Amino acid sequence: MPNLKEITSKVQFHSNGADGHHFDHKHVHYEIDADGIVMLTFDRQGSSANIFDEDTFAELEDILSHIEGHAELSGVLIRSAKDKVFIAGADLKHMSKCVHGPATDREALKELITRGQAAFNRLANLAVPKVALIHGACLGGGLEMALACDWRVASLDKATKIGLPETQLGILPAWGGSTRLPKLIGLDSALGIAVPGKSAVGKKALALGMVDEVVHREQLEIAAKHWLKRGRRTTSTRAVNLPAVRDVVASIARKNTLKKTRGNYPAQERLIEVMKASLSVSHEQSLRNELDAVLDLAATNACRNLLNLFFLQEGAKKAPIEFEVTRDPVNIDQVAVIGAGVMGAGIAQWCAARGSHVIIKDLSLDAMAAGMNTVRKRFDEAVKRHIFTRGEAENLMENVTPVVDEVSLKSRQIVIEAAVEKMAVKQAIFKDLAETAGESTILATNTSALPIHEIAKVTPHPERVIGMHFFNPVHRMTLVEVIHTESTDPNVIADAVAFVRSIGKMPVVAKDSPGFIVNRILMPYLIEAGYLFSRHIGAHRIDKVMLDFGMPMGPLRLLDEVGLDVALHVARTLSEAMPGRFTTPEVIERLVELGDLGCKTGRGFYCYDKDSKKDGMLGVNPGALSACGNEPETGLESDSELRWRLSLLMSNEALLCLEEGVAASAGDIDLAMVMGTGYAPFLGGPLRHCETRGLSKTADQLHGFWESTGREIFKPAGYLRLHDSIFHRD
Ligand code: NAI
Repeated sequence: MPNLKEITSKVQFHSNGADGHHFDHKHVHYEIDADGIVMLTFDRQGSSANIFDEDTFAELEDILSHIEGHAELSGVLIRSAKDKVFIAGADLKHMSKCVHGPATDREALKELITRGQAAFNRLANLAVPKVALIHGACLGGGLEMALACDWRVASLDKATKIGLPETQLGILPAWGGSTRLPKLIGLDSALGIAVPGKSAVGKKALALGMVDEVVHREQLEIAAKHWLKRGRRTTSTRAVNLPAVRDVVASIARKNTLKKTRGNYPAQERLIEVMKASLSVSHEQSLRNELDAVLDLAATNACRNLLNLFFLQEGAKKAPIEFEVTRDPVNIDQVAVIGAGVMGAGIAQWCAARGSHVIIKDLSLDAMAAGMNTVRKRFDEAVKRHIFTRGEAENLMENVTPVVDEVSLKSRQIVIEAAVEKMAVKQAIFKDLAETAGESTILATNTSALPIHEIAKVTPHPERVIGMHFFNPVHRMTLVEVIHTESTDPNVIADAVAFVRSIGKMPVVAKDSPGFIVNRILMPYLIEAGYLFSRHIGAHRIDKVMLDFGMPMGPLRLLDEVGLDVALHVARTLSEAMPGRFTTPEVIERLVELGDLGCKTGRGFYCYDKDSKKDGMLGVNPGALSACGNEPETGLESDSELRWRLSLLMSNEALLCLEEGVAASAGDIDLAMVMGTGYAPFLGGPLRHCETRGLSKTADQLHGFWESTGREIFKPAGYLRLHDSIFHRD
């Protein structure tokens, strides 16, 4: 074993005034222990996360230049000092500047990619063994650096998530990740994780071969030193990477990917090519392939839009709200939920799972029992998915207290009403709350479309009333619309936003206006789909064109999922609020009369096998076909015409929302639609899509539909003729 003095005297360190074997940079520190092991610690100054930005690379390069060529060292360990992050990836702000900026920024992007590739090559080429000690998020560039090490040891902690999410931003791993991962774990597994941009927890990463061992966080260092002793890794060729097999693997992956993406996400297809090629070309050539691919992909609208969405999400998670407040938001963990149905039970479970104490109240023991069953089911699913251990789930379940009798809610900081969607019921509940709730309790309603000021007017405290619109299913949908009336106290809005963030959801603030943001924009599109069906445009054709457009589900299928009764109620609310613009198609009214309410009754636009474990969709419902009118729609021979007719309605309604100030910004509207409906993320949202297409072109097309159909729903928003741009206004 070399002695420390020997080593430190040989290795010329840039010591920053350190004591000879401990060296501090701003973001990456390193020390050498008595055994000659170099410990590199990523600890980005002033941040809870580590990322690769220019400074971090400069420091890493500096460290590498000091330890390169010193075969007498015993090895290198790389760890993070952060609680929940190993390394979260690249500096996306810089990346975004390169992607959005002028051509010269393409040079900057090229420089960024080649710099990362070179640094990780230097790390990989060190003569001594290297081990990554992975605790916390190890994503993108973080994993690419770990892949340049010989060995990887991960913690069993929930915070440890290992993956390559680049395709979700419209690019691909280009710091050697697309080259190294297939060699390490086989092309099939590498594509399985990197094409959809997924991440894996420690145990899954171990099963895939991405890491060599998983241990408790405290044991990472001991385990890593054990791996160091094995020396450098010798590469082995996986059978699945043999030429004949990899061709098949790549072609299956391509077919499956196209089935899902319908060609809208070029990064995923390109990644398959680059990863496949990495097994037959030199390491250097493969890195060039990565670089070429990123430069091409960065020029696509998909990449720009996906990066934009990333920053919109970051804003929704962190940015201050645009209201003047007079105090800091309250930390809320004492919650009551009124109504234990689909939404109430879902909200109660979600809040309890994040540590809130929740009283849940319904009218009868039966309703309460059904609600608590839902709560339990959700916890059971979370245990199955390794989100909680059984013990943790049981403890968290204790956070939910079911009640059916009158109970004081004075200790609650927030009450979320999720009873049936009837104004009289909601007003009665809010009248009661004036007595039962505390003096500062926030009074929230989960209404889908009822005017919140109407609910608020029955209480003496309208300033504490707010809408908090969760989406169904609560455990999957991240968006919550936070809706304020003219009377809502800005401090209450800030409290509600902070609460939504504290439970890991994404708030978008909206004004109390019919349908708020998401239902308002979705409804004309859904109504049009029903209208076209009633005029003999085939259900499968309607749904398919919108799947091709990039929606996660066709509009008729979505209507069945939402429930035709629920959709009808929202449509009526909107048509009352905007007479002449929205008219509900008769086919939906007729199906509701027949009791064909969609998936929940086994029949809507389609028939469903309710016992089926899979999708369960059978053919088109004959009852729906017989409810169609006699007049067929003409002039929609081309699928693209049909697609525009449906999709532009969302963009137009989004523009009307923007004009009316329903949301504070165009970005909020786009984010709400992507998060609340799955609106094609690669298009960036209905407003971004309109911008990309061109405002006057959109206006002309809508005008054409307005003229040919004579229906007000197509009347172009005034905004389209008044401005050239939505996002770059002077
Ligand atoms: P649901 O019908 O499944 O549940 C409503 C529950 O409220 C029932 O258990 C009922 O017994 C209870 N209830 C009725 N009056 C009550 C009262 N005075 N006190 C206590 N409990 C009472 O309804 P769901 O679907 O959960 O909807 C609840 C609210 O959430 C509605 O306002 C709805 O518009 C809204 N919403 C529904 C969504 C959905 O997809 N189901 C999505 C977003 C919002």
